[in-house]
Amino acid sequence: MQTGRRPIIAGNWKMYTTPPEGRALAQAIRARAEPLAQVDLVLCPPFTSLAVVAECLQGSPIGLGAQNMHWELEGALTGEVSAKMLLTVGCHYVILGHSERRTCFGETDAMVHQKVLTALAVGLTPIVCVGETLVQREAGQTEAVVYTQVRSAFADIPSADLGRVILAYEPVWAIGTGRVATPVQANDVHRRIRALLAELADDTTAARVRIQYGGSVKPENAAALLAEPDIDGALVGGASLKVETFLEIVRAAVS
Ligand code: 13P
Repeated sequence: MQTGRRPIIAGNWKMYTTPPEGRALAQAIRARAEPLAQVDLVLCPPFTSLAVVAECLQGSPIGLGAQNMHWELEGALTGEVSAKMLLTVGCHYVILGHSERRTCFGETDAMVHQKVLTALAVGLTPIVCVGETLVQREAGQTEAVVYTQVRSAFADIPSADLGRVILAYEPVWAIGTGRVATPVQANDVHRRIRALLAELADDTTAARVRIQYGGSVKPENAAALLAEPDIDGALVGGASLKVETFLEIVRAAVS
Protein backbone atom coordinates (compact mmCIF):
# COMPACT_ATOMS: atom_id res chain seq x y z
CA MET A 1 0.00 0.00 0.00
CA GLN A 2 1.07 3.52 -0.64
CA THR A 3 0.11 6.55 1.34
CA GLY A 4 -2.66 8.39 -0.41
CA ARG A 5 -4.68 5.31 -1.26
CA ARG A 6 -6.84 4.21 1.63
CA PRO A 7 -6.76 0.44 2.04
CA ILE A 8 -10.01 -1.37 1.34
CA ILE A 9 -10.79 -4.83 2.64
CA ALA A 10 -13.93 -6.53 1.36
CA GLY A 11 -15.45 -9.81 2.45
CA ASN A 12 -17.06 -11.78 -0.37
CA TRP A 13 -19.35 -14.21 1.43
CA LYS A 14 -20.20 -15.97 -1.86
CA MET A 15 -23.13 -18.43 -1.48
CA TYR A 16 -22.67 -18.80 2.26
CA THR A 17 -24.76 -17.48 5.16
CA THR A 18 -28.51 -17.50 5.56
CA PRO A 19 -30.01 -14.18 6.71
CA PRO A 20 -29.77 -15.11 10.43
CA GLU A 21 -26.16 -16.21 9.95
CA GLY A 22 -25.44 -13.03 8.00
CA ARG A 23 -26.90 -10.93 10.77
CA ALA A 24 -24.74 -12.62 13.39
CA LEU A 25 -21.59 -12.27 11.31
CA ALA A 26 -22.21 -8.62 10.44
CA GLN A 27 -23.06 -7.72 14.02
CA ALA A 28 -19.90 -9.35 15.33
CA ILE A 29 -17.72 -7.65 12.71
CA ARG A 30 -19.30 -4.30 13.42
CA ALA A 31 -18.90 -4.67 17.17
CA ARG A 32 -15.20 -5.39 16.88
CA ALA A 33 -14.10 -3.48 13.80
CA GLU A 34 -15.33 -0.03 14.73
CA PRO A 35 -12.05 1.32 16.16
CA LEU A 36 -10.22 0.55 12.90
CA ALA A 37 -10.68 3.94 11.33
CA GLN A 38 -7.90 4.00 8.71
CA VAL A 39 -9.32 1.36 6.43
CA ASP A 40 -12.45 0.94 4.33
CA LEU A 41 -14.35 -2.20 5.14
CA VAL A 42 -17.02 -3.72 2.92
CA LEU A 43 -19.24 -6.76 3.45
CA CYS A 44 -20.70 -8.52 0.41
CA PRO A 45 -23.33 -11.03 1.53
CA PRO A 46 -25.63 -12.97 -0.79
CA PHE A 47 -28.67 -11.06 -2.13
CA THR A 48 -31.03 -12.57 0.43
CA SER A 49 -28.93 -11.25 3.32
CA LEU A 50 -28.36 -7.73 1.99
CA ALA A 51 -31.32 -6.17 3.79
CA VAL A 52 -30.55 -7.71 7.14
CA VAL A 53 -26.85 -6.86 6.91
CA ALA A 54 -27.74 -3.30 5.86
CA GLU A 55 -29.79 -3.00 9.02
CA CYS A 56 -26.87 -4.25 11.14
CA LEU A 57 -24.48 -1.76 9.54
CA GLN A 58 -26.70 1.31 9.84
CA GLY A 59 -24.74 4.26 11.23
CA SER A 60 -21.43 2.41 10.91
CA PRO A 61 -18.67 3.22 8.42
CA ILE A 62 -18.71 -0.35 7.10
CA GLY A 63 -19.94 -0.49 3.51
CA LEU A 64 -22.35 -2.93 1.94
CA GLY A 65 -21.77 -4.56 -1.42
CA ALA A 66 -23.56 -7.06 -3.62
CA GLN A 67 -21.83 -9.87 -5.49
CA ASN A 68 -23.42 -9.29 -8.88
CA MET A 69 -26.21 -7.45 -10.70
CA HIS A 70 -27.80 -7.18 -14.13
CA TRP A 71 -26.99 -4.26 -16.40
CA GLU A 72 -30.62 -3.42 -17.15
CA LEU A 73 -32.37 -1.20 -14.61
CA GLU A 74 -35.49 -3.36 -14.78
CA GLY A 75 -37.16 -5.84 -17.08
CA ALA A 76 -38.67 -9.25 -17.61
CA LEU A 77 -35.46 -10.97 -16.52
CA THR A 78 -36.41 -13.79 -14.19
CA GLY A 79 -33.91 -14.41 -11.44
CA GLU A 80 -31.93 -11.22 -11.96
CA VAL A 81 -31.33 -8.29 -9.62
CA SER A 82 -30.94 -4.67 -10.74
CA ALA A 83 -28.66 -1.84 -9.67
CA LYS A 84 -31.69 0.14 -8.49
CA MET A 85 -32.67 -2.72 -6.20
CA LEU A 86 -29.18 -2.82 -4.74
CA LEU A 87 -29.15 0.92 -4.11
CA THR A 88 -32.55 0.77 -2.46
CA VAL A 89 -31.44 -1.90 -0.05
CA GLY A 90 -28.39 0.15 0.96
CA CYS A 91 -25.52 -1.07 -1.24
CA HIS A 92 -22.70 1.26 -2.22
CA TYR A 93 -20.56 -1.38 -3.90
CA VAL A 94 -21.06 -4.25 -6.30
CA ILE A 95 -18.59 -6.97 -7.24
CA LEU A 96 -18.59 -7.42 -11.02
CA GLY A 97 -16.96 -10.05 -13.22
CA HIS A 98 -15.89 -12.37 -10.45
CA SER A 99 -14.15 -15.38 -11.97
CA GLU A 100 -16.87 -17.66 -10.57
CA ARG A 101 -19.42 -15.62 -12.56
CA ARG A 102 -17.24 -15.80 -15.64
CA THR A 103 -16.48 -19.52 -15.34
CA CYS A 104 -19.70 -21.00 -13.92
CA PHE A 105 -22.23 -18.63 -15.50
CA GLY A 106 -20.64 -17.65 -18.78
CA GLU A 107 -20.16 -13.96 -18.06
CA THR A 108 -18.20 -12.35 -20.85
CA ASP A 109 -16.04 -9.24 -20.93
CA ALA A 110 -18.84 -7.52 -22.85
CA MET A 111 -21.36 -8.30 -20.10
CA VAL A 112 -18.98 -7.06 -17.43
CA HIS A 113 -18.55 -3.86 -19.41
CA GLN A 114 -22.33 -3.29 -19.53
CA LYS A 115 -22.54 -3.86 -15.80
CA VAL A 116 -19.70 -1.43 -15.08
CA LEU A 117 -21.45 1.25 -17.15
CA THR A 118 -24.71 0.74 -15.25
CA ALA A 119 -23.06 0.67 -11.82
CA LEU A 120 -21.25 3.95 -12.54
CA ALA A 121 -24.39 5.53 -13.98
CA VAL A 122 -26.43 4.87 -10.83
CA GLY A 123 -23.63 5.71 -8.37
CA LEU A 124 -22.61 2.24 -7.24
CA THR A 125 -18.88 1.62 -6.87
CA PRO A 126 -17.95 -1.39 -8.97
CA ILE A 127 -15.32 -3.81 -7.69
CA VAL A 128 -14.20 -5.26 -11.00
CA CYS A 129 -12.47 -8.63 -10.84
CA VAL A 130 -9.83 -9.75 -13.30
CA GLY A 131 -7.37 -12.60 -13.30
CA GLU A 132 -5.79 -15.40 -15.28
CA THR A 133 -6.13 -19.18 -14.99
CA LEU A 134 -3.18 -21.41 -14.18
CA VAL A 135 -2.94 -22.58 -17.80
CA GLN A 136 -2.82 -18.98 -18.96
CA ARG A 137 -0.17 -18.06 -16.39
CA GLU A 138 1.97 -21.03 -17.33
CA ALA A 139 1.65 -20.11 -20.99
CA GLY A 140 2.98 -16.62 -20.18
CA GLN A 141 -0.37 -14.99 -20.97
CA THR A 142 -1.08 -13.31 -17.64
CA GLU A 143 -0.57 -9.76 -18.84
CA ALA A 144 -2.45 -10.28 -22.10
CA VAL A 145 -5.45 -11.86 -20.34
CA VAL A 146 -5.66 -9.27 -17.59
CA TYR A 147 -5.14 -6.39 -20.04
CA THR A 148 -7.98 -7.64 -22.24
CA GLN A 149 -10.29 -7.90 -19.23
CA VAL A 150 -9.38 -4.42 -17.97
CA ARG A 151 -9.54 -2.75 -21.40
CA SER A 152 -12.90 -4.31 -22.10
CA ALA A 153 -14.42 -3.56 -18.68
CA PHE A 154 -13.47 0.11 -18.91
CA ALA A 155 -13.89 0.76 -22.63
CA ASP A 156 -15.06 4.33 -23.31
CA ILE A 157 -15.27 5.23 -19.64
CA PRO A 158 -14.19 8.81 -18.95
CA SER A 159 -11.22 9.34 -16.58
CA ALA A 160 -13.41 10.93 -13.93
CA ASP A 161 -15.50 7.75 -13.74
CA LEU A 162 -12.49 5.46 -13.97
CA GLY A 163 -11.15 7.18 -10.86
CA ARG A 164 -14.18 5.84 -8.95
CA VAL A 165 -13.74 2.17 -9.68
CA ILE A 166 -12.04 -0.48 -7.59
CA LEU A 167 -10.20 -3.34 -9.25
CA ALA A 168 -9.57 -6.75 -7.77
CA TYR A 169 -6.79 -8.86 -9.18
CA GLU A 170 -7.80 -12.44 -8.42
CA PRO A 171 -5.68 -15.08 -10.11
CA VAL A 172 -8.15 -17.91 -10.71
CA TRP A 173 -5.60 -20.50 -9.57
CA ALA A 174 -5.40 -18.86 -6.14
CA ILE A 175 -9.14 -18.70 -5.42
CA GLY A 176 -10.26 -21.15 -2.77
CA THR A 177 -7.19 -23.30 -3.40
CA GLY A 178 -4.95 -22.23 -0.53
CA ARG A 179 -2.40 -21.45 -3.19
CA VAL A 180 -1.66 -17.76 -2.89
CA ALA A 181 0.26 -15.57 -5.32
CA THR A 182 3.51 -14.41 -3.78
CA PRO A 183 3.55 -10.72 -2.86
CA VAL A 184 6.01 -10.09 -5.70
CA GLN A 185 3.90 -12.00 -8.26
CA ALA A 186 0.76 -10.16 -7.19
CA ASN A 187 2.38 -6.73 -7.05
CA ASP A 188 3.87 -7.24 -10.47
CA VAL A 189 0.40 -7.68 -11.99
CA HIS A 190 -1.02 -4.79 -9.94
CA ARG A 191 1.78 -2.52 -11.19
CA ARG A 192 1.03 -3.49 -14.79
CA ILE A 193 -2.69 -2.90 -14.31
CA ARG A 194 -1.89 0.55 -12.96
CA ALA A 195 0.30 1.26 -15.97
CA LEU A 196 -2.59 0.27 -18.22
CA LEU A 197 -4.95 2.56 -16.30
CA ALA A 198 -2.52 5.41 -16.91
CA GLU A 199 -2.73 4.62 -20.60
CA LEU A 200 -6.55 4.40 -20.57
CA ALA A 201 -6.93 7.56 -18.48
CA ASP A 202 -3.94 9.45 -17.04
CA ASP A 203 -1.30 9.17 -14.32
CA THR A 204 -3.39 10.91 -11.67
CA THR A 205 -6.34 8.60 -12.19
CA ALA A 206 -4.11 5.53 -12.26
CA ALA A 207 -2.49 6.62 -9.01
CA ARG A 208 -5.89 7.05 -7.37
CA VAL A 209 -7.54 3.72 -8.29
CA ARG A 210 -7.37 1.09 -5.58
CA ILE A 211 -6.44 -2.42 -6.65
CA GLN A 212 -7.26 -5.24 -4.27
CA TYR A 213 -5.66 -8.65 -4.33
CA GLY A 214 -7.89 -11.71 -3.93
CA GLY A 215 -7.19 -15.42 -3.75
CA SER A 216 -6.58 -17.36 -0.54
CA VAL A 217 -5.89 -14.22 1.52
CA LYS A 218 -5.44 -15.31 5.13
CA PRO A 219 -4.15 -13.70 8.32
CA GLU A 220 -0.81 -15.46 7.68
CA ASN A 221 -0.19 -13.91 4.26
CA ALA A 222 -2.16 -10.64 4.41
CA ALA A 223 0.53 -8.40 5.90
CA ALA A 224 3.15 -9.34 3.31
CA LEU A 225 0.71 -8.87 0.42
CA LEU A 226 -0.60 -5.57 1.74
CA ALA A 227 2.92 -4.24 2.29
CA GLU A 228 3.48 -4.20 -1.48
CA PRO A 229 3.27 -0.71 -2.99
CA ASP A 230 0.55 -1.44 -5.55
CA ILE A 231 -1.64 -3.72 -3.41
CA ASP A 232 -4.29 -1.50 -1.85
CA GLY A 233 -6.48 -4.01 -0.13
CA ALA A 234 -7.92 -7.48 -0.28
CA LEU A 235 -11.04 -9.19 -1.57
CA VAL A 236 -11.40 -12.04 0.86
CA GLY A 237 -13.49 -15.16 0.36
CA GLY A 238 -13.24 -18.04 2.84
CA ALA A 239 -11.41 -16.10 5.55
CA SER A 240 -14.13 -13.41 5.59
CA LEU A 241 -16.68 -15.86 6.98
CA LYS A 242 -15.00 -15.99 10.37
CA VAL A 243 -14.94 -12.84 12.45
CA GLU A 244 -11.46 -13.34 13.85
CA THR A 245 -9.67 -14.25 10.63
CA PHE A 246 -11.39 -11.42 8.76
CA LEU A 247 -10.48 -8.86 11.41
CA GLU A 248 -6.89 -10.06 11.51
CA ILE A 249 -6.67 -9.32 7.80
CA VAL A 250 -8.19 -5.89 8.43
CA ARG A 251 -5.57 -5.25 11.12
CA ALA A 252 -2.83 -6.24 8.70
CA ALA A 253 -4.04 -3.45 6.43
CA VAL A 254 -3.53 -0.76 9.04
CA SER A 255 -0.33 -1.91 10.68
P1 13P B 1 -10.80 -17.18 -1.27
O1 13P B 1 -10.29 -16.10 -0.35
O2 13P B 1 -11.72 -18.14 -0.59
O3 13P B 1 -9.68 -17.82 -2.03
O4 13P B 1 -11.71 -16.45 -2.37
C1 13P B 1 -11.22 -15.34 -3.02
C2 13P B 1 -12.31 -14.70 -3.78
O5 13P B 1 -12.81 -15.26 -4.74
C3 13P B 1 -12.81 -13.41 -3.32
O6 13P B 1 -13.68 -12.83 -4.25
